[in-house]
Amino acid sequence: MKYLIYPDLPTVPEELLEHPDSIISRPYDKEHPPASVVNFFETRRVSKQLDEWVRDHVKADCAVQYQIINSHIVPHRDIRRKMACNYLLQKGGEDATICFFDQEKVFQESYPMLERVWHILKTDEFHTVTGVTGIRVALSICFDRFGWDQGFKE
Ligand SMILES: [Fe+2]
Repeated sequence: MKYLIYPDLPTVPEELLEHPDSIISRPYDKEHPPASVVNFFETRRVSKQLDEWVRDHVKADCAVQYQIINSHIVPHRDIRRKMACNYLLQKGGEDATICFFDQEKVFQESYPMLERVWHILKTDEFHTVTGVTGIRVALSICFDRFGWDQGFKE
């Protein structure tokens, strides 16, 4: 477990989560627009209640958003975000798998994506998701001090 763990964190109450289709159909968060250099990633704002639930449980300075990823995802590193804590609402494909690579983009390890399960992963290493045939929707927590930066380094 070099790149990802499945931490034993509380399950998010279903009443706080929106249906993936309604998350996808909303306009993206204009305060945090997707980077123009990528076409596989968008964000959506979470409800005040969900934001508060996460903050009550995390007890740390964090930013909370929905992440939407499609099949165009390629190996990349997130800028200014060393790690992420994701809770998948819709994994986007039966065999959706996150893959990690070394600095030369040589494959290292892969992990299955699990719905309604927390994943803490290193986002400063090259990573991508394979097996996404539809749209992947996740609740994502960022702990870095400056919050979200929607840029990516390919
Ligand atoms: Fe990423």
